[in-house]
Amino acid sequence: MLLDGTVTDLTGWGILASGHIASVFARDLALLPNEARLVAVGSRSLERAMAFAADHGIPRAYDSYSELAGDPDVDVVYVASTHHDHFASARLCLDAGKSVLVEKPMTTSPGDTEELINLARDRGLFLMEALWTRTNPLLRKAAALAASGDLGNIRHVSANFGFAFQGSPTHRLLDPALAGGAILDAGVYPIHAVNLFLGEPAEVLAFGSHASTGVDSHAAAVLNYPATEGRTAATATVICSLEADLPTSLEVYGSFGRIMINDFFILPKEMLVYRGHHRDVAPEVMVTQWPGGGYTFQAQEVMRCLRAGEVESPMVPWRASLAVARTLALWQVAVGEAMPQQEES
Ligand SMILES: NC(=O)c1ccc[n+]([C@@H]2O[C@H](COP(=O)([O-])OP(=O)(O)OC[C@H]3O[C@@H](n4cnc5c(N)ncnc54)[C@H](OP(=O)(O)O)[C@@H]3O)[C@@H](O)[C@H]2O)c1
Repeated sequence: MLLDGTVTDLTGWGILASGHIASVFARDLALLPNEARLVAVGSRSLERAMAFAADHGIPRAYDSYSELAGDPDVDVVYVASTHHDHFASARLCLDAGKSVLVEKPMTTSPGDTEELINLARDRGLFLMEALWTRTNPLLRKAAALAASGDLGNIRHVSANFGFAFQGSPTHRLLDPALAGGAILDAGVYPIHAVNLFLGEPAEVLAFGSHASTGVDSHAAAVLNYPATEGRTAATATVICSLEADLPTSLEVYGSFGRIMINDFFILPKEMLVYRGHHRDVAPEVMVTQWPGGGYTFQAQEVMRCLRAGEVESPMVPWRASLAVARTLALWQVAVGEAMPQQEES
């Protein structure tokens, strides 16, 4: 029963923040009218909340995140604020008894990520990092194929995501106060992609450089997976950048075949699977299609979990978000702090 007396089975969504990705996600939610209902938006500014509500046909607009979290018709809040705010806003919503889908990275540190997960577990509330690529059907197919053993032992995974950012130095990507930087913003995707196939690495060897604002702006890493009982040793390489356009490719190499996906971030529609040892083996081409920007899959997974009473999604499990948070932290430490800018003499 809604505030206005309407009875509905639709999942009530609240959107926290009114920026770029909030709009993209709201547009994709509108493609699911038989499952989702956009109930309210919260912004730090009433003007922005009202403009966003008008753009997306949302009935209620709040000038604070806490009022959004208190709306009784909101079942799940999509936290779409800047990195530095994810922990506080996700905690605010969980404390208000709401389920939460929080943008990547879940928080800016392994400690905060663990705290959020513990809070969700203690309260029996759904929590998921909005790592939408993990819900993409093609990536799911690739992970299932690798897990089936058909490609032999997975020995190496390579993934990258980067773009030559042309915007202002005050943009959130370059602002240390908003927890900007290539590793947290872009590197989270290749690390999650590698995690899907190999789990958490034992070691991270990394190099990188910084923008003039002090955030890391280009970084590469080698991840080490020593042999364990039941698994052969493996390695991975990842690159992220705010300074160079990278192909956003994902390659998975097994002892009996390989998988290649181009643009695994920007709507992967085609996957090439090579089975066998020889370089000239013809690939199987697997394709997929979907509506909108590609975010309907993650929205549908959230709603499936809510209907099933699951607090954690098997597609983006808590252990993966925590493992990725630890790997990102190691990557940041290895790249180091920005060197102080030299004064002109
Ligand atoms: N899944 C994806 O494909 C994808 C793509 C892009 C970004 N993202 C993620 O989505 C999140 C938002 O990115 P975006 O590109 O949408 O950024 P954006 O356009 O700058 O929007 C961020 C929003 O955060 C809110 N915010 C809260 N505190 C803020 C502060 N101190 N300064 C500035 N804004 C603040 C603002 O909303 P109000 O002013 O309304 O409060 C702002 O509109 C990030 O976590 C990013 O990593 C995901």
